[in-house]
Amino acid sequence: MKINEKGHLEIGGADCVGLAECFGTPLYVFDEAYIRRMMGVYRDTIEREYAGNGLVLYASKAFACEAIYAIAKQEKIGVDVVSGGELYTALRAGFPAQKIVMHGNNKLPHEICEALDAKIALIVVDSPSEADLIEAEAKKRGMVQDVLLRINPGVEAHTHAYVQTATPDSKFGFSVASGAAEMMTGYLLSKPHLRLHGYHCHIGSQIFEKQSFVLAVEKNLAFMAEMKAKFGFEADALNMGGGFGIWYAEGDAMIGAEGYAEYLKALLSTVKAGCKALGLRLPFVYLEPGRSIVGEAGITLYTVGAVKDIPGVRKYAAVDGGMFENPRYALYQSRYTAVIANRAAEENTELISIAGKCCESGDLIGVDFNLPKVERGDILAVLSTGAYNYSMASNYNRNPIPPAVLVKNGEAEYIVKPQTYEDLVRNDVLPDRLK
Ligand code: LLP
Repeated sequence: MKINEKGHLEIGGADCVGLAECFGTPLYVFDEAYIRRMMGVYRDTIEREYAGNGLVLYASKAFACEAIYAIAKQEKIGVDVVSGGELYTALRAGFPAQKIVMHGNNKLPHEICEALDAKIALIVVDSPSEADLIEAEAKKRGMVQDVLLRINPGVEAHTHAYVQTATPDSKFGFSVASGAAEMMTGYLLSKPHLRLHGYHCHIGSQIFEKQSFVLAVEKNLAFMAEMKAKFGFEADALNMGGGFGIWYAEGDAMIGAEGYAEYLKALLSTVKAGCKALGLRLPFVYLEPGRSIVGEAGITLYTVGAVKDIPGVRKYAAVDGGMFENPRYALYQSRYTAVIANRAAEENTELISIAGKCCESGDLIGVDFNLPKVERGDILAVLSTGAYNYSMASNYNRNPIPPAVLVKNGEAEYIVKPQTYEDLVRNDVLPDRLK
């Protein structure tokens, strides 16, 4: 991103003010080059540091639409899906099933059938009854499904409690410490229509400490060695999850493509050293980054409407978006950086909180942004909104979900069209007796 000669913010060579004029606001904007660079960096690091014996899976819950699956396909990486809807979208975009891995703590019976019928690469098992369901459905189809077991290595990660996943009371995975992971290993090995390949763990999201990831991998390897001793089962796959943190605001590290490569390199070194020490063969590795691939690639453009100064309390600028298109402040008190895109070079003089247009006091994009004087009609850009914004959007207050555009070399095109009022009522039914 840069500021152009007009003093406007630019993303991927496109003027943000021009984008707002052309496509309207609110608008999600994605920089294609950034996404491709991040996918490529992870892919190439596995190639270089681990002889290509692994696959990056883009965690598509971060941002899913047909275009992103098409880009992942072109970049020759895999994807992780967590619902029938994500799987459907990926397949519709022509994504190869043999590079799809399915997650979820409560995969629905029909989602399991959809995954089996599509012949996806792996299902990551997260409950005993789910193992029974997959076994029964695979048997019906006369097939053997490749699976991983999601384990909980009990690694504390420093991030928001809602996005920690490897704490003792997590709903995800099977605890190594309690013996549940071992019990499940035996259980999966006893199923004739499941082929257990190894383990998956994901300790949480928006995590910066390399050490937490390294520790999780070490615990995973130690558990693999235990299972080899106990069952004679030597895992041939290890999925290290996602979770690398990104820059949102002052105080966050700006890791950059090379920095993420270093994170992955550290994990791969841990796998190599750990396997050597424990006498294990090197497993095929998976990494599941979501946020670090699309988060910093995206921004959201808004038009400022009402500006309200409550003397001695706070100054609000309300935008045409809100928690329906970015619920992250409401959910996690997340922080962001904002720029007035039409006066991006101006000095910051005010502390302003950005409110949405929903009928709730908690509907904020964030509090206390440093900005120049904000006025009605300004185009406000909120940065690092590429992950978990569009994907968590809703129609709250019957607001249409904004469109998304993909920018490449200064040119922008829709990858998600704007919803219309007609879309909002598409599934409404008005029974005759109510007319
Ligand atoms: N793998 C698994 C099994 C996951 O559960 C997740 C994220 C990922 C990979 C990708 O993690 P990432 O690289 O994106 O950190 N809505 C929250 C984030 C929820 C993350 C859920 N799982 C937010 O807006 O911060």
